[in-house]
Amino acid sequence: MPQRRLFVTTALPYANGSFHIGHIMEYIQADIWVRFQRMQGNEVHFVCADDAHGAPIMLKAEAEGVTPQQLIKRIADERPKYLQGFHIEFDHWHSTHSEENTQLSQDIYRRLKAAGFVYSKTIEQFYDPVKGMFLADRYIKGECPNCGAKDQYGDACENCSSVYAPTDLKNPYSTLSGAAPVLKSSEHFFFRLSDPKCKEFLKKWLEDPGRLQSQVVNKAKEWLEGEAGKALGDWDISRDAPYFGIPIPDAPGKYLYVWLDAPIGYLASLKNYFDSGNAKAKGDTRTFEEFLTAPDTEQIHFIGKDIIYFHTLFWPAMLHFAGPPYRVPDRVYVHGFIGVSGEKMSKSRGTGIDPLRYLDLGMNPEWLRYYIAAKLNGNVEDVDFNPDDFLARINSDLVGKFINIASRCAGFIGKRFGGQLVTGDDHALLCKLFDDRFTSYRPESLRNLYDAREFGKVVRYVMELADEANKELDSLKPWDVAKEPARAAELQRICSLGINFFYLIAMYLRPILPGTAQLAEQLLNHSLNWPQLGSKPMSSALLPPGHRINNYQHIMQRVESKQLDALLDVPEIPAATAPAPQRHAEHQQHETKRESTVSEPISIDDFSKLDLRVARIANAEAVEGADKLVKLTLELGDSTRTVFAGIKSAYTPEDLKGRLTVMVANLAPRKMRFGISEGMVLAASGEGPGIFLIAPDSGAEPGMRVK
Ligand code: MSP
Ligand code: ZN
Repeated sequence: MPQRRLFVTTALPYANGSFHIGHIMEYIQADIWVRFQRMQGNEVHFVCADDAHGAPIMLKAEAEGVTPQQLIKRIADERPKYLQGFHIEFDHWHSTHSEENTQLSQDIYRRLKAAGFVYSKTIEQFYDPVKGMFLADRYIKGECPNCGAKDQYGDACENCSSVYAPTDLKNPYSTLSGAAPVLKSSEHFFFRLSDPKCKEFLKKWLEDPGRLQSQVVNKAKEWLEGEAGKALGDWDISRDAPYFGIPIPDAPGKYLYVWLDAPIGYLASLKNYFDSGNAKAKGDTRTFEEFLTAPDTEQIHFIGKDIIYFHTLFWPAMLHFAGPPYRVPDRVYVHGFIGVSGEKMSKSRGTGIDPLRYLDLGMNPEWLRYYIAAKLNGNVEDVDFNPDDFLARINSDLVGKFINIASRCAGFIGKRFGGQLVTGDDHALLCKLFDDRFTSYRPESLRNLYDAREFGKVVRYVMELADEANKELDSLKPWDVAKEPARAAELQRICSLGINFFYLIAMYLRPILPGTAQLAEQLLNHSLNWPQLGSKPMSSALLPPGHRINNYQHIMQRVESKQLDALLDVPEIPAATAPAPQRHAEHQQHETKRESTVSEPISIDDFSKLDLRVARIANAEAVEGADKLVKLTLELGDSTRTVFAGIKSAYTPEDLKGRLTVMVANLAPRKMRFGISEGMVLAASGEGPGIFLIAPDSGAEPGMRVK
């Protein structure tokens, strides 16, 4: 009988784009937690779905000339590649564009309405007369009513930071058609979040101990209680046709706002999982309703910090006032955002590390799982992916400390002792060692850390155990002992000790490294199950005396820095504007070899094909999402050019502004991920670190030809 029955979800990703590293991080976090719970004997149903509705998806499909259904199918079809690739094991994946979701969303809507929590009101809104649709704020731009800055969004000015309504904009235009929007009135439906009963319920729900992280409670209460008398208002839950969404019952032409049906998608996926027999196949024979209403079911959502609002106010309120069989979430676990080398990742454009590229480069998914685990804790903190840190943690810790224990010991056990570990007194000695010296590494010590999502602490703790193991081996020197045939028994003892260390560590890391755990199980010829020791000594968790292991097979490779370079390199950069980065050891060797012997001769005609010009760097700025690029605006006398140059490691934008340099002015423009590069600046680089921008002697003027 399982101790806990858990219904676990991750946020439903928008169905209009591929996964980015932020999604993968969230899934890895939840997957580790789920695997840990299963190892404890708990029952877990881990589900997700595509969040398919809303205006952006409708418009994107339209722009591509496909139906929204075709668009979401294309994205849905590529999901398994990512999930399997990173060893993320959901029990079920469904879609908010589904029968179940329509049924559940309409049911919840009807119940909320019957309970008096929905009312209608006619409001005036901007409407695009060309597109024939109402415009959400993000599709309206115009001049700031305060400072007059052009092209400001409908809610706030990026220039003077003032906040306003879209109707306050001067000369507003629709970003969809360019047309001037007109005000048009329409009936909308609202959910009474401001109802005192609702506020009272939410306050209690938020304060329930253990439900939310304290940072999350504080944030949600700020919204709930409102700053300076601006209390939580009612929530507009309807949208007018054309809209890709779920029709509102008895209201032709009206649809549920996507954020109403999206979280209901958690339940729709769960329902489909139960109705399709998948839950049964996993051992739960109950119906969807039986499961949902069972008092011991726990409903747990993993989400990112940007969607706290929806999950801690709207979602529990909807569920509570809809009533049984719906239940409020028991826990919402919030994580921070992952960025790359200190740069924030754009949520919509998803720059940073491309998860598919990671896999295509043959990088081991277990490395990323380990790295992310090492960086995660139970708080809402951002995570930075830093390539040097990644390299060090994988090579020195994961491979150097953990995998090495097996490679040091398993060979001797296999070759010298037919794979057999010590028995009898020798085994007893080994047990005594663990019971005397390593009881602080009992499995219980890790249990709370895992449960509290303190994966960074788990990793630290386990690596401490690996350090202890390596210290033992370093002092017992099996490689020396192995040279003296008379000391065979000693060798077997030492290596049996090592193998048992490896066994414990692999077991402790199994939720984080499921693939490695499988390989370890093969090697150890023993499953890695979490031991429930109770009052038994630490040694009862060890492999049995005389246990036979299999021959050592390779378990994990080290990361090569060229793999990280390839992962982080922006592929579209022309070679000369992106000199080989410093860490790029191997690539650079080729580079220097090629360059130390001078290239093939060319004629003067060949050379004069190059139009080299003196250019003034009028502006230089960082490129969001690219850690090697600087965007340069170059003045050539009578024209200006935009060039993306891979010189960020050597120059800050401030260093560059105003300088003269030399550019290739007749290089065909090249489309890059961040825009079009119209040429290339010249820079020198060699064997060592450094990129050196070429500068003309003083007196040269922008536009002068270099020949
Ligand atoms: N569709 C909504 C969620 C609906 S849930 C009923 C959504 N989708 S999303 O695709 O934009 O984001 C999905 C999840 O990824 C969210 O939990 C979000 O916080 C998370 N992340 C998006 N970018 C992220 C990072 N850079 N880092 C970590 N997680 C991030 O929001
Ligand atoms: Zn302004």
